[in-house]
Amino acid sequence: MTNLLPKIPDKDAADLFRVVFDDEFGQHTIFRSHPALYRNCLKALGLPDGAWGRVKPLPEVSQYLEAHLKLTREEDFLIGLGAVGPAHEFAIPTMFEYLIPGLQNNSDLSDEDVEYFSMHIIEDKEHAIVFNKLIVRHVETEEGQQRLKEGAMRSLAYRHTFWDGLERAVFGTPSA
Ligand SMILES: [Fe+2]
Ligand SMILES: [Fe+2]
Repeated sequence: MTNLLPKIPDKDAADLFRVVFDDEFGQHTIFRSHPALYRNCLKALGLPDGAWGRVKPLPEVSQYLEAHLKLTREEDFLIGLGAVGPAHEFAIPTMFEYLIPGLQNNSDLSDEDVEYFSMHIIEDKEHAIVFNKLIVRHVETEEGQQRLKEGAMRSLAYRHTFWDGLERAVFGTPSA
């Protein structure tokens, strides 16, 4: 998202983004930034403080991260917008609705421990609206629609691989 911001053609986009950034980075208190809430969840699962940032990512996770840096840094603005808007903010609430019961049915995580996930189901619906406003402003041609769609679909393809990698790591073999 921070990679995308300087690429946005209209000047008041920063104001539109402000509300999203404030949520993500915990403008009001750093303890409620999204990384902080995620860390709470991992801590509740038993990850020691010293391991934070030191666990080697699965190859699929590294690939996912690198691909998204490229999609947002090196590609056309509309490709990045498709990756971050429809393929992230819009898609996350749907995914997390499945993750929370899966996590809680298989662990003793409390509702507070999974706040990173439950909070995103609410907040990302609002964030998706912000991105939809940007799409309405900047996607004016059929070619633009194609680029936006391409960004979203490329991002979702990497996410597919990402989930397969997690499935393999947790359950052994990815399903067909
Ligand atoms: Fe977030
Ligand atoms: Fe978000």
